Amino acid sequence: MELIVSGPARDLKGSLRPPGDKSITHRALLFASLAHGPSRLRGFLRSGVTQAMLDCLTALGVEAEALGSDDLLVLGRDWRSPAAPLDCRNSGATMRMLLGALAGRPLEATLQGSERLHRRPMGRVVEPLRLMGARICGQGDGDQPPLQVRGTQLHGITYRLPVASAQVKTALLLAGLHAEGSTTLWEPAQSRDHTERMLQSLGVSLAQQNGRITLNPGHEHEPLPPFTLTIPGDFSSAAFTLAAGAVVPGARLEMLGVGVNPTRTGLLEAMEAMGAVVQVEGEHLEGGEPVANLKVRSGEMRAVEIGGAQVVRMIDEFPVFAVIATQAQGESVVRDAQELRLKESDRIAALVSELRKMGAAIEEHPDGFVVSGPTELQGAAVDSHGDHRLAMALTVAGLIARGETLIGGAECITESYPGFAETLVSLGASIR
Ligand code: S3P
Repeated sequence: MELIVSGPARDLKGSLRPPGDKSITHRALLFASLAHGPSRLRGFLRSGVTQAMLDCLTALGVEAEALGSDDLLVLGRDWRSPAAPLDCRNSGATMRMLLGALAGRPLEATLQGSERLHRRPMGRVVEPLRLMGARICGQGDGDQPPLQVRGTQLHGITYRLPVASAQVKTALLLAGLHAEGSTTLWEPAQSRDHTERMLQSLGVSLAQQNGRITLNPGHEHEPLPPFTLTIPGDFSSAAFTLAAGAVVPGARLEMLGVGVNPTRTGLLEAMEAMGAVVQVEGEHLEGGEPVANLKVRSGEMRAVEIGGAQVVRMIDEFPVFAVIATQAQGESVVRDAQELRLKESDRIAALVSELRKMGAAIEEHPDGFVVSGPTELQGAAVDSHGDHRLAMALTVAGLIARGETLIGGAECITESYPGFAETLVSLGASIR
């Protein structure tokens, strides 16, 4: 599928509610499946990757009933060995988190996925799970999918994560729930903490201090209690309209009900440092997560430098950050971001090659990139590289480019933001 964006857009106006948070939906589906009884998830994200998680959980014996388009009842119960391999499709979160959840349960399962998922790093989760006693067999050096898990009694570990990864952290905490003894994890920088918040709200004994997380499993946590949760809008999806609001001349946009967990809002910090006009209003807690409305209007921006722990707080936002940086005065520098090469695409190489086609002055570095701005972008034929966030960032670039931008492979947008193009059209963009 191809999207054609006619630019330059002007005066985008209106308000929107971004779809439910992908990370929180993954966790809510998993924890509801591990509970015994009915849990209700309001505002959950129905998309490609979350459907992959739900289908795997269904194959493990969990039942789910749609009460509305984003309202789901999940009937958790003891899992059974699936009859066929579990297909995680394109979802790294599904494969990594399920590995942790399965490793300590009395069943056997094989996890596989798309060809691209099979090339993403799984050793980072398989290795520490093996230290806990997990029995996992894989291809290559033993840590590449398809991965076969034979559940067994695990024991807790003290482990220093070599990279800040919330998916790995979640897998190890899920395994720790079933282990003998406590599990202590150290993170090199704080990654998103939705798992910790959710487990604590379900009564699990979990403490966090100075980069250290300790989980004490106890029989009283098994099984987890069923729950009702309203899932906030996804900051990472709102990021695209936030960016459009900042760079499209005359834009004034409002995003309602957006999750603003500080472990996720590094882009907001970056935009504020660039001088963007963003307001965060009505912040309150919902289901243990901070939620707010975001207002943005276009204005002049200056370059920023991003590195260190901030990279983790905006790890999914670099494609759209690069587009914003093309409109900022000066050299924007991103460093310490080599993880970007291991996402749905090699996001450093893919971003540089596609934005250059549109005339951006962007230079590739091993651990990031440098953008010199401002530049007037030109419409061009570009490609998503099968990466939903790259496709949406290129759509935003198309809004400010002169002429038509053709985005090839745009169907991947439904992995995280079904209805993205329609939302932009409702705000005044010309996309077909
Ligand atoms: C996610 C964690 C991040 C992020 C991904 C979702 C999660 O990945 O990039 O989109 O839901 O925990 P890593 O854990 O690999 O850093």
